[in-house]
Amino acid sequence: MISDRKLAHLEICKNNNVEHNRTTGFEDIELVHRTLPEVNFEDIDTSIEFLGKRLDSPLIISAITGGHEASKEINKNLAIATENTKIAMGVGSQRAGITHEDLTDTFTIVRDYARRAMIIGNIGAPQVEYAPKAIEMLDCDALAIHLNPLQEIIQPEGDINAEGYVESIKEICSGTNIPIIAKETGAGIDGRDAKILEDIGVDAIDIQGVGGTSWAAVETYRAEDPNLGNLFWDWGIPTAVSTIEVLENTSLPVVSSGGIRNGLEAAKAISLGADCVGMALPFLKYAYESPELIEEKINQFTRELKTAMFLVGASNIEELKQKRLIITGKTREILTELNIDTKKYARRI
Ligand SMILES: Cc1cc2nc3c(=O)[nH]c(=O)nc-3n(C[C@H](O)[C@H](O)[C@H](O)COP(=O)(O)O)c2cc1C
Repeated sequence: MISDRKLAHLEICKNNNVEHNRTTGFEDIELVHRTLPEVNFEDIDTSIEFLGKRLDSPLIISAITGGHEASKEINKNLAIATENTKIAMGVGSQRAGITHEDLTDTFTIVRDYARRAMIIGNIGAPQVEYAPKAIEMLDCDALAIHLNPLQEIIQPEGDINAEGYVESIKEICSGTNIPIIAKETGAGIDGRDAKILEDIGVDAIDIQGVGGTSWAAVETYRAEDPNLGNLFWDWGIPTAVSTIEVLENTSLPVVSSGGIRNGLEAAKAISLGADCVGMALPFLKYAYESPELIEEKINQFTRELKTAMFLVGASNIEELKQKRLIITGKTREILTELNIDTKKYARRI
């Protein structure tokens, strides 16, 4: 039953280690310290325009839930915090709310409590016919199409026929009048797939790479035989590498996500060229508690981001994108193999 699965995912993620053993790669990326920042911390502006909406901080609460009674309180808490801090929020896959009317309010509660905030809907790639209903349900500002072949192949009841996804995503893009975001779920997106997505009309890419929540890990806890899940626990493209590859191969807005855990990592991702970042797991435990705790976490994130901006002398997000970065270690090794010039970031003024 779909609703039981939604609860199992929440409980597994709340109570177990579901993170990759590999890292995002952001530890290989260093912003260059300025001893003469020439910026007043109080004047630093972290606001952005993303897909036509203004956010006070470049942060999206990535898709987490909906589809079980327990999701309702979680989504309510996330929505209140999102509205109060003027960031953006994604809901979990809306399929359960479309196919089971008694579960619809576990999603619509988000709009009840976040009337002005940027809300991002969520459906799977083959679910073309759900797109209009998903948009209407939430009056959402953008619709994410989740891509999760790794989860599907590890999940006991997974959909293992991924043929025709490109065509159905193309159909969703041409049949809707709000921005469409192609979103991975923790294995990242490479440059070639990103280019395909751009060519078929997707409006933005949400990386969701390796270094945070692993959906092979989550499904390993549900599987009768854990061997396959354990073997593929760390499968995928590290978030920093995926972010750079997508930025190099498309001109689409990019959400850097998957394993982002603080404002300093966000500063690095944005300085590389991402528009904003997304985080899911770090909000989960607070979402069970209260909107106030979520707001505290969001405010802490923004303080950390602003501190990094202060120390590189950036008074706004556009200036942060011009700052120098040094890329070392394994991340440089991978990027060099991909023929990407890493030194250009160090050569910035
Ligand atoms: C409990 C839970 C449920 C999730 N459900 C969805 C979902 O329904 N749709 C989706 O696109 N992503 C879903 N995700 C994936 C997240 O949006 C995100 O891609 C992933 O967790 C990696 O980010 P993180 O390392 O910040 O957690 C879920 C994540 C969690 C923790």
